[in-house]
Amino acid sequence: MTPARRVILDTDPGIDDALAILLAVASPEVELAAVTVTGGNCPLDQGVRNALGVLETVRSAVPVVPGVALPLIRPPFTAPETHGNSGLGNAQLPPPTTPPAQDHAVDLLVREIMTAREPVTLVAVGPLTNVALAIRRQPQIVERVHQVIVMGGAIDVPGNTTPLAEFNVYVDPHAAHIVLHSGLPLTLLPWDITSQVLLTQAHVDALLTIASPVTRLIADATSFYIDFHREYFGYAGCSINDPIALALVFQPELAHYAEVFVDVEIDSPKSIGKTIADAQGLWKRSPNVRLVTGFDAHAFLELFTARMAALAREHPARS
Ligand code: BDR
Ligand code: CA
Repeated sequence: MTPARRVILDTDPGIDDALAILLAVASPEVELAAVTVTGGNCPLDQGVRNALGVLETVRSAVPVVPGVALPLIRPPFTAPETHGNSGLGNAQLPPPTTPPAQDHAVDLLVREIMTAREPVTLVAVGPLTNVALAIRRQPQIVERVHQVIVMGGAIDVPGNTTPLAEFNVYVDPHAAHIVLHSGLPLTLLPWDITSQVLLTQAHVDALLTIASPVTRLIADATSFYIDFHREYFGYAGCSINDPIALALVFQPELAHYAEVFVDVEIDSPKSIGKTIADAQGLWKRSPNVRLVTGFDAHAFLELFTARMAALAREHPARS
C-alpha cells in the first residue's frame, strides 16, 4: 500500500466540516497532521470546541490549532441557520477535555509545509483566511505544498449565501482572492458539484443500526442539516460538501477536472464573493485552478458511509 499522505485540514466546524474530520480519521490513506480552525460557520472559539469534540468522539489525539477569527476585511458572517447555534446541528457533545494546541494555524501551516520531508496536502473547507495569511507570511509555501484542495465557489450555479456567492468565498472574498492569485497548486471543488451530493435520512438510518457515539453524532448533526436543506433548497438530503474535498486526496478519480482561470469579485457590493471561471480563455490568463467539473456522487456516498460504518464499529457505544 502507498504510504499515507500527510494532510492538514483547515476548517470552520460546521456539520460537514465535522464529517470531513471523521472521514480523515477513518481513512488509512490520510495521515492527519492537524485540524486548523478559522471563524466561519460559527465563531472561532466554538469551531475549535467542535473540532476537539469530534476528535474526542473517536479518541483521536490529532492537534486542533486555532487560527484567525475574523475575515481579512469584511465583518464576520456566521451560519447558525445552516449549522445550528453550536455549529453541529442537534448534536450535544460533552465539553472537550483536551485543550487546543498552543500554536497558531498560520504558524502551523507555514511550519508543516516548509519542513515536511514529503510534501504536505492542504484541504481547506472553510473561509480561506488562514491560508491567505500563511501565503503572506511565507510565500515559499506555494512551491513547497503538494496540493491544496479547496471547497468553495459557485461557478455556473446560483450561490448558497447570496444569489451569486458560495459561503466560504463570500465570508472572506479577499482571502480567496489572495489564494486564487498565489500560484498555489489548487484543486477547486465548487458548490456546483457538492450541492448534487446528498446524504439522505436513509443513509443515516442505515448507519444508526450500529450503536456508537460516531453514528449518534452523525445522526444528530445531520438531522438539523437535512431539515435546513429541505426548507431552503427543497433537497431530499443534505449536501455534505467538505468530506468530498477530503476524499479527493486519495480518490482523485472520483472527479473530472478542467484547467481554467478562476477569479473572484471583491469590489461590487451585490456580487462580492462571486467566483468566475473564464472557460473560454477570454481574459488570456493561464489556468490557476484544476476545477472539479464532474463527480461520481454514488461512489463517494458508498465510500463515505462505509468508512463511517467502520469507524462506528471501532467505537461501539458503551453499554
Ligand atoms: C461550505 O459552506 C459551509 O457552510 C460548509 O461547511 C461548506 O464548507 C459550503 O458552501
Ligand atoms: Ca466548512
